Amino acid sequence: MGHFSEVLKVLCILCLMKCVSGIGANWGTQASHPLPPDIVVQMLKDNGFQKVKLFDAEDDIMDALRKSGIQVMVGIPNDLLAGLASSEKTAENWVSTNVSKHVDGGVDIRYVAVGNEPFLQTFNGSYLQTTFPALQNIQAALIKAGLSNQVKVTVPLNADVYESSSGLPSDGDFRSNIHDLMLSIVKFLNDNAAPFTVNIYPFISLYDDPNFPLDYAFFQGAASPVIDGSITYNNVFDANHDTLVAALRKNGFGNLSIIIGEIGWPTDGDMNANLQYARQFNQGFMNHISSNQGTPLRPGPVDAYLFSLIDEDEKSIQPGNFERHWGIFYYDGMPKYQLSLGSTNSTLVGAKGVKYQDKKWCVFKPTASLDDPKVAPSVSYACGNADCTSLGYKTSCGDLDARGNISYAFNSYFQENDQDSRACDFSHLATVTTEDPSTPTCKFIIMIDADSAASWRLRPVEGGSGVAYLGLISFLTLLLVAL
Ligand SMILES: *[C@@H]1O[C@H](CO)[C@@H](O)[C@H](O)[C@H]1NC(C)=O
Ligand SMILES: *[C@@H]1O[C@H](CO)[C@@H](O)[C@H](O)[C@H]1NC(C)=O
Ligand SMILES: *[C@@H]1O[C@H](CO)[C@@H](O)[C@H](O)[C@H]1NC(C)=O
Ligand SMILES: *[C@@H]1O[C@H](CO)[C@@H](O)[C@H](O)[C@H]1NC(C)=O
Ligand SMILES: *[C@@H]1O[C@H](CO)[C@@H](O)[C@H](O)[C@H]1NC(C)=O
Repeated sequence: MGHFSEVLKVLCILCLMKCVSGIGANWGTQASHPLPPDIVVQMLKDNGFQKVKLFDAEDDIMDALRKSGIQVMVGIPNDLLAGLASSEKTAENWVSTNVSKHVDGGVDIRYVAVGNEPFLQTFNGSYLQTTFPALQNIQAALIKAGLSNQVKVTVPLNADVYESSSGLPSDGDFRSNIHDLMLSIVKFLNDNAAPFTVNIYPFISLYDDPNFPLDYAFFQGAASPVIDGSITYNNVFDANHDTLVAALRKNGFGNLSIIIGEIGWPTDGDMNANLQYARQFNQGFMNHISSNQGTPLRPGPVDAYLFSLIDEDEKSIQPGNFERHWGIFYYDGMPKYQLSLGSTNSTLVGAKGVKYQDKKWCVFKPTASLDDPKVAPSVSYACGNADCTSLGYKTSCGDLDARGNISYAFNSYFQENDQDSRACDFSHLATVTTEDPSTPTCKFIIMIDADSAASWRLRPVEGGSGVAYLGLISFLTLLLVAL
């Protein structure tokens, strides 16, 4: 009897594991010193990620994912859409090189993401004409390659493709200026048993509107929930998601499957981007979906990819300084906070085997004067070419004094240039130190080893030319500083 119930328990756990679609992660590579792909793949496995979403289809990453047991969504960058839209042959070549080859090599590709948020209003309609034809050509190419049953197309869209005139989820519909286009795409996805992919960002709601109720962004109940007929919405994720479900229903596609392509919370670069809020949001989301209750209009498992796995220090900060801090892991694969992803480990497992550069930092010379007229241009040069997004009001380094600020900027530039001594001069205002200038909240980082980070990237055509090229760049930038 006791045995029997044990067996039942194991069976139940197995069934739960099978029935839950599992959590995924977005793996972006817009970083000055990206971690080697094999280290990242090990990290995905150690943390129980079953799926990964990419923004591209880089060979080295695909190779590292071979036989990893991880399901893959490969991405097509927006700037390739025009070419793919205008030529079936181009789409066939893309599928052959970036899907068929890797599937044959043992990569478990499940989706092709055609474009990335192509209808975002800030793109001014640049991809309105090309996204749908590119989607059609990629689908045709997948059929021709005999892959259309196992590999599905989709278009990751920002949640601004739909809206609600009353603010209530049940009034959801597609944005009026792209309504017809959205219907064509949705019908096409439906005809091909492909999912709708949407990125949902409660953080942006808060960033755009300081009066946005903070508790409504998280998953712990809301003081003033949104009452929509018989449904009470306690969190903005459910409400936003169901605005999409209502839009799909209204247009006759109420059963189309939905993937949450990106969801997450940044940890730095803004007053609402910090470790505590990020942990609260991500853990709240994980708990919410692990219950498998789904949303009021879509009960059941939620298929989602966290945004994102690792910080990317070269992302555009046009949306805001927080943009480089979405990772649940820092740039070097170290966990930022405790997070239970619902697998066996109750906390995040950091990257293994990461190699760092030497323990040295570049700082503002103790003897240099704050009044030196070369300080301001040097700092702005360093920040323009490296990363100062952790400086600012209520950020992790927001409490530094004026000298600390300058040192932070100099160090960031020095580390991004692989501790090249010429990158710690700044008209003789800077000096190298072996004493860590970090404070309890503000980390003066040391980059991961350039060889381990870049060797898989900057494969020099002939030995040494890559290094010479880097040398030339730093020489030129230093020349600029000197001027
Ligand atoms: C859990 O953590 C251990 C120790 O870091 C790691 O070796 C293992 O792969 C992890 N397992 C899972 C399922 O996450
Ligand atoms: C495969 O994808 C890469 C990365 O996006 C792209 O640069 C390349 O042009 C693609 N190959 C083909 C044949 O389209
Ligand atoms: C969109 O238009 C605005 C205003 O006309 C312009 O400032 C911005 O650079 C444009 N963005 C793109 C991606 O073309
Ligand atoms: C949606 O799916 C349900 C259950 O599978 C089915 O009963 C219903 O007819 C479907 N509706 C549409 C519009 O396809
Ligand atoms: C440090 O730099 C930040 C960001 O540039 C700025 O907001 C702050 O006022 C500076 N602090 C001091 C003491 O100069």
